[in-house]
Order: sequence, then C-alpha cells, then structure tokens
Amino acid sequence: MKVLVVGGGGREHALCWAIAKSPRLTKLWCAPGNAGIGDSAECVAISDTDTDGLVAFARDHKIDLVVVGPEAPLVAGLVDALDDAGIKSFGCRADAARLEGSKGFMKDMVAKFGVPTAAYGRFTNRDAARDFVQTHGAPIVVKTDGLAAGKGVTICQTMDEAFAAIDDAMLDGKFGAAGAELVIEEFLTGEEASFFAVCDGKNFIPLVAAQDHKAVGDGDTGPNTGGMGAYSPAPVFTKDVEAKVMRDIIAPTVAGMAAEGCPFKGVLFAGLMIDADGNPKLIEYNIRFGDPECQVLMMRLKSDVLDILDGAATGTLDQVTPEWHDDTAMVVVMAARGYPGAYQKGTVIKHVAVANAIDGVRVLHAGTKMQGDDLTAIGGRVLGVTARGKTVTEAQQRAYQGVDAIDWPDGFCRRDIGWRAVARERS
Ligand code: AMP
Ligand code: GLY
Repeated sequence: MKVLVVGGGGREHALCWAIAKSPRLTKLWCAPGNAGIGDSAECVAISDTDTDGLVAFARDHKIDLVVVGPEAPLVAGLVDALDDAGIKSFGCRADAARLEGSKGFMKDMVAKFGVPTAAYGRFTNRDAARDFVQTHGAPIVVKTDGLAAGKGVTICQTMDEAFAAIDDAMLDGKFGAAGAELVIEEFLTGEEASFFAVCDGKNFIPLVAAQDHKAVGDGDTGPNTGGMGAYSPAPVFTKDVEAKVMRDIIAPTVAGMAAEGCPFKGVLFAGLMIDADGNPKLIEYNIRFGDPECQVLMMRLKSDVLDILDGAATGTLDQVTPEWHDDTAMVVVMAARGYPGAYQKGTVIKHVAVANAIDGVRVLHAGTKMQGDDLTAIGGRVLGVTARGKTVTEAQQRAYQGVDAIDWPDGFCRRDIGWRAVARERS
C-alpha cells in the first residue's frame, strides 16, 4: 500500500513510525511532517489544511490510503474532498467532525442517544446563560461551542467566575466566533481517562485507554497545555469500565451517528470522567488520536496498524482484533521554555540519538526543523520522549533517562508524568 499521513506533530510521527513497520506498506509520505518523521516517511511540503494540494498529491501519487492526523483538516472537509476524488482515507467527514467541532452539537447528539454525560444547556443569549448559572449554582463549567485552541473550557468554582466567563465570551469576544455560543454544564467529579475506539461507520473496535497530564507544572499545577505527557494502560480503566464505555457510550454513538445520516469513520477519542463506583460519563469527544496519547498507543500496539486504519476506511473492522503489549508505555513531552505562553523559536537540540539508543526509548518529534546541520525547536511542544517498561515505574525511569540524555538548555518538561499510576503501583 502507498500511504500518505497528513499532519506534522508528535501524533503523526507516532503513526508514521508504526505504519513504517507494516509488511503491507510499499511507500509512506507525510505532509507536512517534521524533522523527525523523515526516519519513517518522505516529508512533502503541503500544509495539513491545503485540501486541494493534498487531494492532488494523493491522486498524482496513486495513494491507497490517506491517514488524517489532526482535527482541523477533518473539520474543514478533507475526507469529503478525498471521497469525491475516489481516494480512500482514515478519518471522518465534516458532518461527523462536528462531534469535536461543535460542543453543542455533540451534547445534543449524545443526549438524544442516551449516553451518560453532564447535564447542560446551550446559549446564544447572555441573560439566559446567567439564569442557567443562577439555577444550577457552582461549581459549574462554561465552554465555547467552537474550537478555541484548547482554551475554551472554564471550570468555575463560584457563580461570579461563571458570570465572568460568560462575559469574556459573549461581551468581549475573547474566543472570537467560537464563543458566540456557549455550552454550560454540570461539574463532574472522579478520575479522568481517555479511551479510543476505531469505527468504520457501522462496526467499532476498542483500542486502549490512556491518561494524560494537561497542566504545565509538576503536581498538575499552572495553566493547561495540549498535554505534557501520557501513559497507557490507565489503571482506573478496568475491563469492567471498558465494557460499560463500549456498551453505554461508544455503541449508542456509532449507531446514532449512522441513524442521523453522518456515520462516524475513524478514531473516536472519548474524554471520560470515571466516578468512585467505576461509572463512566462522557466529557467530550475528539475525532482523532490524542497528542501525546497516540505516542503511547503506538508503542503498545503489537498488531499491524495498517490493518486497523484500512479496516476503518473499507468498512471491514469486524475482521480486525488488535493485540497489545501488556507493558506500560509513557511519553514525557519536552517543550520550549515559556510554553504555553510565548516562547523562543530556533533553539538548538542535541543528542536525540543518544536518547534513542537507550533500551525501550523512542524520541518522537513534534515541533522540530533542521536548519543546516542543527536540529532546532520551532514549536511549543517539541519532543515526546517515549518509553516502554514492564511496570509504570520502569517506563517512567526509562523515559526520564531519555530526557536526561537530550541536551536542550532552552527546553523543559514535567518531572512527574504518571505520578498517580506510580503511587498506585507502590501502594
Ligand atoms: P474538554 O475540552 O471539554 O475536554 O475540557 C477540558 C478539560 O476540562 C477536561 O479534560 C476536564 O479536565 C475539564 N472538564 C471539562 N468538562 C468538565 C465537567 N463537566 N466537569 C469536570 N471537568 C470538566
Ligand atoms: N492530549 C489531548 C488531546 O490530544 O486533545
């Protein structure tokens, strides 16, 4: 198979690394890729939102399967355009991408399908939004309807914080068009986990769960980021929880989306809150692999990833049963100093090869670029140092051994990725 991966982050490096191992592969490209992806794929300079450019490339190179990594091209209709051109792809069409692109759409859909989720209201009117907060009290959660670069969710401990969040979005336009409509919902408590299921429109199969760390600082402090690290398996996600999630959340969603005329194909990323009794509620859907969760999923996957991706694209997932390594995989993200605020670009990174030489360690690139002979940082999240181990503790030790081998004075990472799971393992 000739395969094109769309995107250029750590998630896409992980996908390319896994696809490159497939005996079914003849040639792999990645658009636009990054400085690390060249180890697995040929990078082509086409932006992930250049729909026409990507379709033309896929047609000219007779690509058998296009694997779309990020949400933006899915929301923008890349898969629709590929369908029109008769090119097979892994990813959902724009109408199904609304599960991530519009929180209001997602909430209305899952409420209609009977999926357990936080009670909510949708608002385009400030007074109505304030009334809802008055009625429900705090803590309460205010979310922009549209994508707001991961900043559209405000957890409000008091009603005044909720009123301020409403005004930020509706009076001050802090989130632009994404905040013209708000979803306000009940605050859920418990432990969070991310679960991934692959769907072909009709059939769906479970992958595995992961847990990530969104806050920038040790001890889960400081502002939220795209994710500073992750690990899989997630100890809170027992077989019993998985069975409930498949039955009560994934199955009704896949059947419901098909019944609504927008069948879901691709990977359904369920953000879940699991309460003390092991009952899951859906927080959100994403329509793509998580970044950095994908890095640990690909490290644990034993089966041929192309069987899964192609099975979803061709509607034959009922014939696919992925196998996994029982080990724990962990990824520690190295970011540019200052992230998620302003940071410097162009700083030089050395000794990635030293880290890659450590047993069980693989460095996956996100925001990197070669400048002359130098590997440089050009993004906020720059490297994902990924490791496998027999235990969480071993995976963590190896990942940090990898981090410590890398010479990048302008970068930083959290030193406590996986702390909950490590503490559980010790107790
Ligand atoms: P989202 O973008 O919807 O995943 O929200 C980002 C983060 O906000 C989630 O990962 C949760 O930590 C938190 N969050 C969102 N909605 C809720 C809720 N209803 N109750 C508690 N925490 C929430
Ligand atoms: N790491 C969270 C996400 O990919 O949305």
